[in-house]
Amino acid sequence: LTGIIAGERYMENRTENHERLIQKLSESIKVTSNIEKELFDEYKVKRGLRNSDHTGVLVGLTKIGSVLGYVKKDDGTLEPIDGKLIYRGINVTELVEGCQKGEYHGFEETAYLLISGKLPTREELSDFHHYLAEQRKLPSFFTKQMILPLRGKNIMNMLSTLVMALYNDDDNADDTSRENLMKQSLNLIAKFPTIVAYAYQSMMHSHYDKTLAIRHPMPELSTAENFLWMMKGEKYTPLEADVLDLALIIHAEHGGGNNSTFTIRVTSSSGTDTYSAITSAIGSLKGPLHGGANIAVQQMLEYLKKEVNNWKSQEEVSEILLKILKKEAFDKAGKIYGIGHAIYTKSDPRAVLLKAKARELAIEKDRMDEFNFLDMVERTALKVFKEFRGNSVHKTMCANVDFYSGFVYNMIGLPQEVYTPLFAISRVTGWCAHRIEELNFSSKRIIRPAYKNVYGQKQYMPLEDR
Ligand SMILES: CC(C)(COP(=O)(O)OP(=O)(O)OC[C@H]1O[C@@H](n2cnc3c(N)ncnc32)[C@H](O)[C@@H]1OP(=O)(O)O)[C@@H](O)C(=O)NCCC(=O)NCCS
Repeated sequence: LTGIIAGERYMENRTENHERLIQKLSESIKVTSNIEKELFDEYKVKRGLRNSDHTGVLVGLTKIGSVLGYVKKDDGTLEPIDGKLIYRGINVTELVEGCQKGEYHGFEETAYLLISGKLPTREELSDFHHYLAEQRKLPSFFTKQMILPLRGKNIMNMLSTLVMALYNDDDNADDTSRENLMKQSLNLIAKFPTIVAYAYQSMMHSHYDKTLAIRHPMPELSTAENFLWMMKGEKYTPLEADVLDLALIIHAEHGGGNNSTFTIRVTSSSGTDTYSAITSAIGSLKGPLHGGANIAVQQMLEYLKKEVNNWKSQEEVSEILLKILKKEAFDKAGKIYGIGHAIYTKSDPRAVLLKAKARELAIEKDRMDEFNFLDMVERTALKVFKEFRGNSVHKTMCANVDFYSGFVYNMIGLPQEVYTPLFAISRVTGWCAHRIEELNFSSKRIIRPAYKNVYGQKQYMPLEDR
């Protein structure tokens, strides 16, 4: 290598050379990473694993969740319907109504249903609650040696690191037997809220000099109450806990095709361990087009609140939303966050449930002005999107769950840093259920699709000839 690395030449202008190198390599991406859209059509590639009508390509079967947003008619066209979310055959709206009527928090029942496939009896639910309550506590060395020394500023990434750290603490980490998968799953479902709350407290202490508050989880509290306790101490109202519980129920599962669940199905199909598989799903969920959308929505709404002078003026809101779609405003990505969904058309049942509670909470918190503003932005966004895309998008669009989740978390007094981690706290149940299914169906196979190379063959040229 001494003949190749001309050290002196490079080191003389080290910083400039570093910059030039990165610029040159990045520039090459423009060409080498671009694949023309026409090629996808030519090779009949289903971009994003989508059919031409935007429906997802069928890649698997599941007995866990089901997401319904349209009916395919005999002539092949799609008829939009009000969205339905089904967990193990049970309509989530009914599940939520059942808990609300019974006046108990339903996330634990939901987790039991998703993991086992059946609704628990009163006794089973009580046993399950006790089991989770005992698993919530983190060993003191884990908090002191793993969480507190972390220097992270993103809780999702801290969560990934800490899930990987749990691998080292599990003597039976690579065992994929049914019993061990169940044990690992329940341990993660119980510990995720504690890890997220402690990671947040630790980050606030080390980066923003806030008092370090490490509160032990309380066994008598529900998952939602416990999280509020660990985050805020006793400063929460019953309605705040009820709304958080609802948010946990509705985020728990969304079929096998959503990005993070498909990710865990792909990684699990290779036979890897639970911690590696869960970490891959966390990475996927963080993205702004998936779980990270709740932060993006909140930031977009804050932007709108500042930019719009009259919160009652639909014209003003229309103008800015149009600029967002044209990539001229906000983050210039051309997306109105919180709007649209791969499957839902007329409505997202999660958004419907959350919006109703958001209204109740807005009344409690005296924030109806903001609620009304959001409601108007929602209606206007759908109108502006339709006008902007015209015939290029035939699909009926609706607000998705993330349109109201950030506002709700904000009213509960939870910081933006935990919005997406809250999604993970809930969705880990769905991920675990799918991982268990992926590893246990009799005709399983490693997931391994195909990519066609369109770069062509090039002639190798020795270094001295280039
Ligand atoms: C959720 C989302 C990723 C689904 O995307 P999708 O499955 O491609 O949705 P569709 O097939 O219905 O999209 C049709 C077209 O409208 C565009 N579109 C959909 N929602 C949009 C939005 N909110 N803003 C701008 N364009 C949008 C899509 O990019 C797609 O464009 P294309 O035909 O040029 O590829 C998309 O609606 C989105 O980006 N929404 C904003 C982010 C968000 O709220 N995510 C949370 C999801 S719960």
